[in-house]
Amino acid sequence: MQMTGNTILITGGTSGIGRGLAEAFHRLGNQVLIAGRRQGRLDEIMAANPGMIGFQLDVQDPAAIDAFAARVREKVPELNVLVNNAGISRPESLTARSHLAISREIIETNIMGVLHMTAVLLPALKAKSNAAIITTTSGLAFVPRNNSPTYCASKAFLHSWLQSLRVQLRGSSVDVLELAPPYVQTELSGPHQLTDPHAMPLVAYISEVMQLLADPSSPDGEILVERVRGERFAERDGDYARRFAIFNGF
Ligand SMILES: NC(=O)c1ccc[n+]([C@@H]2O[C@H](COP(=O)([O-])OP(=O)(O)OC[C@H]3O[C@@H](n4cnc5c(N)ncnc54)[C@H](OP(=O)(O)O)[C@@H]3O)[C@@H](O)[C@H]2O)c1
Repeated sequence: MQMTGNTILITGGTSGIGRGLAEAFHRLGNQVLIAGRRQGRLDEIMAANPGMIGFQLDVQDPAAIDAFAARVREKVPELNVLVNNAGISRPESLTARSHLAISREIIETNIMGVLHMTAVLLPALKAKSNAAIITTTSGLAFVPRNNSPTYCASKAFLHSWLQSLRVQLRGSSVDVLELAPPYVQTELSGPHQLTDPHAMPLVAYISEVMQLLADPSSPDGEILVERVRGERFAERDGDYARRFAIFNGF
C-alpha cells in the first residue's frame, strides 16, 4: 500500500498492535486517528505523538459507531485508510452455559464491530482515488486453541468475510488487506503476555508488518510475518494435526 500521504483511522489504537501501527504510520508523516474506549490512553498517546488525534469509541455500541462515523465524515473527509484492529480475547469453557455472555461480547466486538465500522465508512473510502481497509485477524484463525474458542472462530469468520469483501471491491479504489498476527507481546490476554518470551516482541512485529505493507506484492492481500506462516499454511503443508496437537496440549 501507499505508505505516506494517508489519513488513517485505527480502532484499538490505545495499546499493543494498534498503537504500534499508529506510531509507525505517524512517524512516516501520515495523519493518524486512533480510537478506543480508554480516554487516559488516548490522552497519553496524543501527548507522545503531536498531531495524532484520539477518539473515544466503543465498537460494541452500534449507536456510538454511527455517531462516530458521522463525525469522521464531517471532520475528516480525507480519511482513506480504515484499520479494523480493535479486538478482545477471553478464555471460555463451552461446558458452562455462563460462557454465552463472553461469546456474545467477543462476537459483538471482534465481528460486529468490524462489519459495522466497515459498512459506515466504506462509502467515503470508495470515493477516494486510493484507499484501504486493513483488518486484524490472527494465526489462530487457521489453527484454533480450545481455551479461547469464540475468539479463534471470530478470526476465522473475519478471514472468510475479508475474502468476499475483497472480491466485491475488486475494480474499486479500495484495497482489502488482512493482518494475521502470530502470538505477539501485548496485553490481549492480560499483562503477563507483555513479557511472555514465547510471544513475538511488538517492535519486531510492527517493523516486519510495515515492510510487508510497503511491498506491493503481498499475495492475496494477506500480511503475514514469517512467524505466522506455519499456522497460516498448516493445512496446505500437511502440518495441521501436529500444530493443533501442540496448541491444545495433546
Ligand atoms: N497480541 C497477539 O498475540 C495477537 C495475535 C493475533 C491477533 N491479535 C489481534 O490484534 C488486535 C489488537 O490486539 P492487541 O494484541 O494489540 O491487544 P491489546 O493491546 O489488548 O489491544 C486491543 C485494542 O482493542 C481495543 N478494544 C477492545 N475492545 C474494544 C471496544 N469494545 N471498543 C473499542 N476498542 C476496543 C482496546 O482499546 P480500549 O481498551 O481502550 O477500548 C485496545 O486498543 C486484536 O484484534 C487481536 O485479536 C493479537
